[in-house]
Amino acid sequence: MGSLEGQTVVITGGGRGQGRSHAVALAREGANIVVTDIGEAEVRNVSYGLATEEDLAETVRQVEALDRRGVAVKADVRNTEDMQRVADTAMAEFGRIDILLANAGIHGIFQNTYTIDDASWQTMIDTNLTGVFKSIRAVVPHMIEGGRGGSIVITSSVDGLRATPSWGHYGAAKAGTVNLMKTLAVELAPHKIRVNTVHPTGVNTPMAEALMDTVGPITDQWRYATDRANLLDVPVIEPEDISNAIAWLVSDKARYVTGVSLPVDAGYTTKH
Ligand SMILES: NC(=O)c1ccc[n+]([C@@H]2O[C@H](COP(=O)([O-])OP(=O)(O)OC[C@H]3O[C@@H](n4cnc5c(N)ncnc54)[C@H](O)[C@@H]3O)[C@@H](O)[C@H]2O)c1
Repeated sequence: MGSLEGQTVVITGGGRGQGRSHAVALAREGANIVVTDIGEAEVRNVSYGLATEEDLAETVRQVEALDRRGVAVKADVRNTEDMQRVADTAMAEFGRIDILLANAGIHGIFQNTYTIDDASWQTMIDTNLTGVFKSIRAVVPHMIEGGRGGSIVITSSVDGLRATPSWGHYGAAKAGTVNLMKTLAVELAPHKIRVNTVHPTGVNTPMAEALMDTVGPITDQWRYATDRANLLDVPVIEPEDISNAIAWLVSDKARYVTGVSLPVDAGYTTKH
């Protein structure tokens, strides 16, 4: 028996990268998965391609290969109705929501934070902060009504804990999720719903690839290489490293862990 047998997990941004890895890891623990993503490569004010509907379908395929049920919902975390539809679909398909991984996010790089334009700033906050709020708001009533407690994990970043030259809009949004997490941990404790953040260092995903492609031309390469190295000798970690932490965090083994910011960062936040 896996640690999540019979439970339902909703994952935002699950079309690829860390979200897909989490879907597979938690399916392996016995959970059924509702995986949601924007499903459109071209998104305004995002400089690199996001996940497609085919990516979303591939995540479902990988979940089903583990003999678990996977359901895909094309949805934008910035859209209230979309997130409601995700929660409604999860309830219609599985009758319960036990776990939410608010993982969807975008990145963007500028020479300096004080030169970020309005549209890029707003798209970042709408996606990486407001999108997290809307995802949580859609599922919480179902978790409360279920009466079984629950677990919410927000994917923040080391950039939510430290200064973030060249992408202060990203850092501000990620730091915002920490306060949101703590507030919700307080409000939802009476319902036995735990809320935590994870803070990855650089992870080997399409987002990180896009970042590496633009960081050199836009910012000072030397500053990137020296300032942003991990303490442990690894340039980027793997999506599975984050999935392993999350699999523990959402399980009963972490039943009294709530309101916590967990770095999975090869020592980055200790060094910097
Ligand atoms: N890769 C890294 O180095 C790194 C480091 C720290 C934190 N993170 C965070 O980890 C999370 C996962 O990112 P990843 O590394 O897997 O990158 P990724 O780009 O592979 O995955 C992010 C997913 O979010 C989806 N998404 C973006 N905007 C959306 C929207 N409006 N609605 C719905 N879905 C949307 C994308 O389509 C994509 O599938 C993000 O929140 C990211 O900020 C990443």
